[in-house]
Parts: sequence; C-alpha cells; structure tokens
Amino acid sequence: MTGKAALAVALLMCLSQAIDNCNGFMTPREKRQADEGDEQSVDELCKNRPADEYFRLSTEGDCRDVVRCDQAGENGITRLAGVRCPQGLAFDIDRQTCDWKTRVKNCDKLDKPRKALPNLKTDEPVCPKDQLQCGNGECINKDLFCNDRPDCKDESDENACSVETDPNRAPDCDPNQCVLPDCFCSADGTRIPGGLEPSQVPQLITITFNGAVNVDNMDLYEEIFNNSLPNRMNPNGCSIKGTFFVSHKYSNYAFIQELHRKGHEIAVFSLTHKDDPKYWTGGSYDDWLAEMAGARLITERFANISDGSIVGIRAPYLRVGGNKQFQMMEHQFFVYDASITASLGRVPIWPYTLFFRMPHKCNGNAQNCPSRSHPVWEMVMNELDRRDDPTFDESLPGCHMVDSCSNIQTGEQFGRLLRHNFNRHFSTNRAPLGLHFHASWLKSKREFKDELIKFIEEMLKRNDVYFVNMLQVIQWMQTPTELDNMRDFTEWKDENSKCDVKGQPFCSLSNPCPLTTRELPGETIRLFTCMECPNYYPWILDPTGDGFSTRRKRNIHLNFKNKNHYV
Ligand SMILES: *[C@@H]1O[C@H](CO)[C@@H](O)[C@H](O)[C@H]1NC(C)=O
Ligand SMILES: *[C@@H]1O[C@H](CO)[C@@H](O)[C@H](O)[C@H]1NC(C)=O
Repeated sequence: MTGKAALAVALLMCLSQAIDNCNGFMTPREKRQADEGDEQSVDELCKNRPADEYFRLSTEGDCRDVVRCDQAGENGITRLAGVRCPQGLAFDIDRQTCDWKTRVKNCDKLDKPRKALPNLKTDEPVCPKDQLQCGNGECINKDLFCNDRPDCKDESDENACSVETDPNRAPDCDPNQCVLPDCFCSADGTRIPGGLEPSQVPQLITITFNGAVNVDNMDLYEEIFNNSLPNRMNPNGCSIKGTFFVSHKYSNYAFIQELHRKGHEIAVFSLTHKDDPKYWTGGSYDDWLAEMAGARLITERFANISDGSIVGIRAPYLRVGGNKQFQMMEHQFFVYDASITASLGRVPIWPYTLFFRMPHKCNGNAQNCPSRSHPVWEMVMNELDRRDDPTFDESLPGCHMVDSCSNIQTGEQFGRLLRHNFNRHFSTNRAPLGLHFHASWLKSKREFKDELIKFIEEMLKRNDVYFVNMLQVIQWMQTPTELDNMRDFTEWKDENSKCDVKGQPFCSLSNPCPLTTRELPGETIRLFTCMECPNYYPWILDPTGDGFSTRRKRNIHLNFKNKNHYV
C-alpha cells in the first residue's frame, strides 16, 4: 500500500468513528525501527504479516499508536508506517479500528492472534491416503477439513475453507457430467446453454426489487408492469414480469398476493433483514433456516400463495452465508440464490448451478461463497458498467444494484447506463441482463422512473427482448429455445404460466391487523392481509403469529410439503 493509500485508510477509520477532529489521525507518522538491543528488526516483524494489518510495537503508553508494514517503498525496503488514534480513543487490535478507550479490551496485546493454517500444499504426500496435514504436522482425514468442528489440535483444519482452498470443495465444471435440465456450467461461466448461436438467443432482462412491498411502492410496480397497455407486452403476447425479493417487516401481504396473481415472482429477502452484515456472512444453519424458510412460511400464509412458487432467495446486503445457506436451501427445496455478484468482465456470466465449482471469483460477498457442491441454481448478479461515456471514461469498478451506481444523477445518465449495458450483453453472449432496484431509488426522481419505462417500451419494440422473472430464466435455460420459436415457448404460455392475467385483486379491502410480538417490545406493526389476522406479529421465533406460550429455545419446526420443483 502506498502512503496515499495508508492515508486513505487512516481517514476511513477516522470517518467510521465519526470523530470531528481527525487531524491527529490523518498524519501517518513514519517510524524507523532501530534494530539494536533485543528489539526485532523490521524484516522480522513483517515476516508473513499482511500489509494491511496494524499492530503495536509496545503495550506501554496510551494504546493509541499502531504501525503496519509498508512494503511499497523504494528498492523494496520494508518500513513501518504508523497511525495514532485521536485523543480519547484507543486502537482495537482484534477489530483493527479506533474505538472509545473503555471499549478496547486488548491494549495488552501486541498483535492480532494469528490463525494456524493447514499444510495442504506439499511436494510429496506427507500423510496416508485420504488424509491431509494440519499446521502442527498431525494427519487427519480429509473429510474432517472445513466441517465446522476443529479436529486438528491447532484447529487449522477450519482456517482454510474458501472456494479456492477447501480440500473438499466442489470439482471444476465437467461438461460431460453436467447436463441440462438439472445441471449447467461452463469453464469460465460465459457459455450459452444448449450451445446456441448468440444471434439465436432471446435477450432476457430481469427487473428485480428488494425489500418490503407496501403503499410506498405498490403504485410504482403497477405503473411499470401495467398490463393494460399494449406496448408493455413481451413479443409472445404475455405481460412483462418481475421478481420481488420481499422482506417481511412492513410488507403488505394483500399487495404481495396481487403481484403473485399477476404472474410476478415472489421470492424471499429474509424475515428480519437484520442490519448487521456479519450476521448474514457468519449465520448458522438455523439462522438461515429461520430467516428464509420462516419468511416463506409467512408469505405463503398471509399472501395465500399455495402453488409452491416461492423458491428463490436473496441475502440481505448480498452477504452470502457460505455452505450453510446453501445446505439449508437444499433441505428446504429452495431452487436458486440471487446474491452472488460477478465483477465486471469483458463478457457477462450466465446463471449456473452449483453442483460444480463457481466459475468466477467470490467478489464483494465478504468471501463467504459456497465452496461445496449444492443442487442450487445461482442467478449470478453481473455487475453493471456504470461509465457514463464508455468511449471516453476510463474504467470504473462496476455496481451490482442500479442504485449503487452512485454516479448516476440524472435521467439522461440512467438512460445511457441502461442502453450501454444492454448492448454489452446483447452484442456478446446475451447472458440475461439483471436490473436490480430498491423502489425508493426509482421513486427518488421522477425522471428515473420515466427513463426506465421509456427503456422498457423501446426494448419491447425490438421483438428479440423479453422482460421475465428469475424462474422464467431457469425455464428457458433448461429448454434453450431459439428466437424464431419463442412465440410458442410453452413454459411461458401454458395455463400455469399466468401469461396475461387481468381482472380484480382477490380482496379490495384487506384486514389491517395491528399486531405486537414479545420479540419486538413496544412496537405495534400493521400487517395487511386478505386472510385472517394472526394473534401476534409474526417474527423469527413465531413465524405463524400463533404465539408461543412457554419460553423455549429457538427450535423451529417448519413442515414443508415437498415443493413443486422447478428443476
Ligand atoms: C394502466 O394503464 C391504463 C390504460 O392507459 C390506465 O388507465 C391506468 O391508469 C394505468 N395504471 C397505472 C397504475 O398506471
Ligand atoms: C386462498 O387460496 C385458495 C387456493 O387458491 C382459495 O381457494 C381461497 O379462496 C383463497 N383465500 C383467500 C382468502 O383469498
């Protein structure tokens, strides 16, 4: 890291503490360690230490000073770069940030405890067959690695478990074994299903929304997907469809029932949408079960959805929960996840199944992508190219939600972003183009909504573009069908497909149930539903809202019928 980057880090840490006066913190003081007496040399101190790790040179003093190894100096000489927390704060070694002095409990420690790593890469096998070596030299069975239980005495078997390092990771894509309709993969993820020519592939566009569905956004959805308008129809004569990743709190289940009736896809975005990214990244199997299967149970009950069509998941903050999330999905018959992001590449990536190893880096998901084999589709989120003018602007990192493309300020810029990314997909491998929104962003400026509608109508005039939901994408991929035959693609037109649903909502007046739950003390929340009101506001320990009489440990028994499988 350069001095400039170190300054940026210091500034960032400073900002994250919301300290008004950052001056003391913003000047990295360079220290040169004198290698005299019994002090360690810089090279010794920095051996095997990541360049971004801060550590103390001494446990004396006021606990404000830390250094890190700066290897970017001239002639490859490693130096120590120091930072000092503002007055009143101390540096927390475990969390690697400044915090109030009373909250820092590790001023007596010089550095962050280092995790032992296993010896997985040896020139010659050092252990008997089917065993691998721990960091301390012990040999244990290979299948004990990354099973969430330490088996090596130094616990190193649980410390190298990423998609790249897990010794029991899924194998690389083998196209001979992985065949449609149940399995789809390709070496770099860019291959078209069925080996179709790009010119014969319909360009699919998936519009998705994350969050609660309620009176703040239902009008927007009705306007965008208005199937009374003849120019809002797909080329096969069916209405355009979207996917709604619904979070529970503040959702109006009468509205969700109406979206489902019209053929939009309802999927889950969790029950609590807890505001703590680490909860999702590090969530246990039971957390993911209660959050996702619990949210599905609530939606099925209060939106009266009984066709088993809620089979998709998006993780809050796109914080994928690794193998635990995907194991839960397998057991609960979830068909796909739509949270893993792929960084902006030359050619976009097609959705894939996770029987084999994912074909791209685990990007921006806090590195907890699933390493094992799972019978689940990944509706990968290709990052959008946010450049305003791709012929001039230098490359900028992509963005996965449209609203995270923060440089988009005007309707005109938004329109250019939509058309440029459409061309990027259409002129290469025609991988589905995902446009992922929070409704509040689209509503923040009238011109954003107008521009989206203009784009949709323009695309629909072309006859080779379809606006479909995620399940329809999977249906197409399972039966890859050429453009000329798309008008008769039965999976999108048969009686179960809700080609074009008109008529009135199930109920014009929903029950506005004012409810409480012991789990959210002091809050009364209205749950709108065409169904009967429950006794309590459904929440994580009580997803049916029936109430729980005696206190019990989290112990969820969700009895799901075997879902109508889409795969
Ligand atoms: C849908 O289109 C019809 C026909 O133009 C119009 O009367 C109606 O107000 C529109 N609905 C919404 C919600 O925009
Ligand atoms: C719920 O759905 C079932 C099956 O589709 C239907 O028979 C019933 O009338 C619905 N109930 C309400 C209150 O909408």
